[in-house]
Amino acid sequence: MKQRELEAVLEKYQTPAYVFDLDALARRAEQISACLKQTGIHLCYAMKANPFLAGEMVPLVERFEVCSPGEFRICEREKLPMERLVVSGVYKEREDIRRIVTACQGQGIFTIESERQRRLLSECAREAGVALKALVRLSSGNQFGVDWALAKEMFFRQKDCPELSLIGIQYYSGTQKKKLSVMEKELQELDGFCRQIQEESGIHIEEIEYGPGFFVPYFQSDPEEDICGMLKEFAGFVERMEFSGRITLEMGRFLTAGCGSFLTSIVDRKENAGQIYGIVDGGIHHLNYFGQTMAMKLPYVRHIPVGKRENSREEKWNICGSLCTTADVIVKQFPLAGAKVGDVLVFEGVGAYSMTEGISLFLSRDLPKILFSSREKGIQLARDTQPTDVWNSK
Ligand SMILES: Cc1ncc(COP(=O)(O)O)c(C=O)c1O
Repeated sequence: MKQRELEAVLEKYQTPAYVFDLDALARRAEQISACLKQTGIHLCYAMKANPFLAGEMVPLVERFEVCSPGEFRICEREKLPMERLVVSGVYKEREDIRRIVTACQGQGIFTIESERQRRLLSECAREAGVALKALVRLSSGNQFGVDWALAKEMFFRQKDCPELSLIGIQYYSGTQKKKLSVMEKELQELDGFCRQIQEESGIHIEEIEYGPGFFVPYFQSDPEEDICGMLKEFAGFVERMEFSGRITLEMGRFLTAGCGSFLTSIVDRKENAGQIYGIVDGGIHHLNYFGQTMAMKLPYVRHIPVGKRENSREEKWNICGSLCTTADVIVKQFPLAGAKVGDVLVFEGVGAYSMTEGISLFLSRDLPKILFSSREKGIQLARDTQPTDVWNSK
């Protein structure tokens, strides 16, 4: 976001606050779509990355990956088209499936992550008198999805569950993947899986929903992004597959990280044993930089001086949050020029996971407000500050 837009936010709202730049979000999604245009690859938004943006994504992606009853309720409130949901998740309860099947009237797609889920989905479909489309999630060697041998069997035994139409497979093996060669290998393996099913049973797998876990640079030491170059190389892997059905890329971080800023004020400054410590009204419960260890890497931070400056001497600050733990160090040795108490620090690249992955209930501190910014609507309050003490007492 531009400096003057951030200043406009600060005139009206106090820190700590997240601001999601909806124009930047749209530009990003459109850029990704444009780079993939010739390839026929489709996009699915994994809404866990930032549930606040689910509604904004409706014109920008085709599908939404929904992983819990809570995420589904958000989709309902945002009036997301049910036929565009992929209801996923390692834990699916009978009551939740029933509710979703009823609400969706059999539309949308469900993932199957175990034999038990397959039975449950088929029972719920039969009960509701609908046919459900399903993707079998292949495990990447952890608790998610099913073993590839079992997945194969599920395709072979499709007739046992006529109310479930197994249209394809889902695969996700992790986030922040730096190496494209890892994705190339994974796609080759998925291609091989589909070929085997075809050869052994004549069953044609219609689609692959693949979470590439594309890398987002968070730190000043990370390589710069070349979105189109990277996507072009990725598209080359897809072109070389024998698989000719639909490919959907399920992504979260890569779509939303860049649109978010976290605004936090310096509330205290001290020097202990020769080290400058700046205490801010945010903390590690608000900022989650994947790959940050011991606050050693430098994220992208902007300094907004508030009030007059006597000097602009650069000093190295250790920026610490407001939690009672020595772990609440956001960044060490960060160079700031003439910084003082009252100034605002803007942490960038926090549009994915930061607002939901933190230890928000520790110390009963309030949840920060969430703001949307766009040229069309200006600054909007999407969620006001919320107290958490109510959750931490009788
Ligand atoms: C199944 C699935 N798909 C997609 C994603 C999104 O991953 P990313 O944010 O790296 O794009 C996740 C993240 O946990 C996931 O579990």
